[in-house]
Amino acid sequence: MDLQGMKERAALRAADELVTSGMRLGLGTGSTAVFVVRRVGALLAEGRLKNIRVFATSFQTELECERLNIPHYSLNSPELGGGLDLTIDGADEVDPENRAVKGGGGALLIEKLAAYNSGRFAIVADESKLAPRLAVRFPLPVEVIPEARLSVSRALEKLGAELTLREALRKAGPVITEHGNLLLDIRFREPEEPEELEERINRIPGVVENGLFAGPGGARIRPRIYIGRGDGAVETRD
Ligand code: 5RP
Repeated sequence: MDLQGMKERAALRAADELVTSGMRLGLGTGSTAVFVVRRVGALLAEGRLKNIRVFATSFQTELECERLNIPHYSLNSPELGGGLDLTIDGADEVDPENRAVKGGGGALLIEKLAAYNSGRFAIVADESKLAPRLAVRFPLPVEVIPEARLSVSRALEKLGAELTLREALRKAGPVITEHGNLLLDIRFREPEEPEELEERINRIPGVVENGLFAGPGGARIRPRIYIGRGDGAVETRD
């Protein structure tokens, strides 16, 4: 089975197992999470799900909700009241302890907000996302305010990181996030302890958020993981 098939199977399994009528639901970003969005849209259209109030974690997800007539709200709205029952999202890397790196699509800030404020959190991914250690192979994104680009870069280098400023693809210059910030993609030669690293990075002035979902600073709870396998099976891990 190809990657798209693995992503879709993991997403469908998670949506069918976890999403129930009446939920306040966080919907993640990216090419795997979009299958969850589409599944929720289809179940709503068929009347098999009712009264779902969605919080979309990015503009991309919001557009998909609009397209599928999925009701979506600000987290500050009375419909959501600052909290969610469940969030389902993708990930760039997941380690054996269900800690994750996210933010490949640049939506880490709102994705972490959703995960942190959810009663339950699930990650859907294909098996290529499994990693023995985080932030060694796939870069860890750090969102910084533009004024702090250099100062934060220096502080991260002192922590042992190699870094690049994320460049836009069809625009000259850097990626500007949905909140007007920059992204530094960082890698470590030696694996770092994820919980501690997540907190240390966020203590640097000018850092808005980083893409580690490891400790209490990330999701309050460790996610349930749905991994789509090459043989068509979906493995779940708590
Ligand atoms: C976006 C994310 C995505 O969930 C992550 O990058 C995985 O994306 P994909 O499913 O397309 O591989 O964190 O900020």
